[in-house]
Amino acid sequence: MTAPTPLIAGNWKMNGGSASLSEAKAVAAGAGKGAARVALCPPATLIAQMAWALRDSSVLVGGQDCRAEASGAFTGDVAAEMLADAGAKLVILGHSERRAGYGESDALVAAKVEAALRARLEPIVCVGETLEQRKAGDALSVVTGQVRGSLPAALAGKPFAVAYEPVWAIGTGLTPTTAEIEETHRAIRATLAEMFGEAGRVVPILYGGSVKPSNAAEILHAAEVGGALVGGASLKAEDFLGIVDAL
Ligand code: PGA
Repeated sequence: MTAPTPLIAGNWKMNGGSASLSEAKAVAAGAGKGAARVALCPPATLIAQMAWALRDSSVLVGGQDCRAEASGAFTGDVAAEMLADAGAKLVILGHSERRAGYGESDALVAAKVEAALRARLEPIVCVGETLEQRKAGDALSVVTGQVRGSLPAALAGKPFAVAYEPVWAIGTGLTPTTAEIEETHRAIRATLAEMFGEAGRVVPILYGGSVKPSNAAEILHAAEVGGALVGGASLKAEDFLGIVDAL
């Protein structure tokens, strides 16, 4: 099996309006020359406009979450089918801000992954330990447990990515050492291989948490790192392209 194609995805979180589409267009103008697939995940309100603005580029547009159900009386929620209809090709699921802020369990994340597959969206499934869990020596068991619980068997043979995002590294400027990243990514890889056999060896495992142009090259070239999920540094095209170019 060949190595996974790297994926660099920007997670705009709850930031950006139509004025920010210029940043997305600048990303599209600067990306697409390298080896990585590049994606931007804006707020749901911007997906359709961004997908249209980037229609002639190689940059993919994704959502940040979806409901597991396809439709119904779920005020305020967005179905995977709706993201796809708006032009999304991917969706971030199980981000720690959703696991912590909305009590999302592994089982719920797995149901959302099934919804994404139903809508033909490529899921980026996030896992990661808290600082307390790392200090207690539980990081690997927490992360591999989340991988087992959040990835349904239906993913076999489908395109998807896993993002390792230590909760304590998100938006803090802190990052694990390269050795810690490699150790965790190797544990995720072994779990994916157990779950999905040979196909588990080509799933990109992204690193996320305070990735910026200055640390991107070291992180992206670490063993078993197949790309990055970038929050704050994805909001400005110059910073995001600095990360894309580091690959
Ligand atoms: P950050 O966020 O790059 O701002 O740390 C990463 C994420 O939450 O996906």
